[in-house]
Amino acid sequence: MAVLEICTFPNPVLKQKSRPIQKIDPKILQLVQDMAETMYSAPGVGLAAPQVGHSLRLAVIDVTPADGPKNLLVLINPEIVAAEGECTWDEGCLSVPDCNEEVKRSKKVVVRYQNLQGENAEITGEEILAIALQHEIDHLDGILFIDRLSPLKRRLIKKKFQKKDKEEKKL
Ligand code: CO
Repeated sequence: MAVLEICTFPNPVLKQKSRPIQKIDPKILQLVQDMAETMYSAPGVGLAAPQVGHSLRLAVIDVTPADGPKNLLVLINPEIVAAEGECTWDEGCLSVPDCNEEVKRSKKVVVRYQNLQGENAEITGEEILAIALQHEIDHLDGILFIDRLSPLKRRLIKKKFQKKDKEEKKL
């Protein structure tokens, strides 16, 4: 197991649409282990494969409190098959450090996915689980939570990060 480096905005891998996983081979199993470790050490409640540089439809989520027992959810090729209601949630992202903004999302979602055994599964999420599911599946489509903000807010944040990126490249 290893803690992986997390790609941050504006890394182009975050804008790509990820490809489906055809076969759950040892490489994928290793990636899942590493992603889980990376998420727990960050700490975060979710992590999608593009955030660690792999353009694959894979995400891990654990919304249980950090001091409680773990409940790791591994989602392979997840898709939202039903959504209802609306809510606003103060979101952040490991790929957009030091930035939290309120995002409008569905209140409840049903997600179909494959588990680590390659079996079809379904999960219904409400509250924070619904938010995490939508946020992580967005990552697989190259969408960041800042892409869901008003154009003005998004421009301000992008400017801040582009400036930061330029400064880092100078060093
Ligand atoms: Co994120």
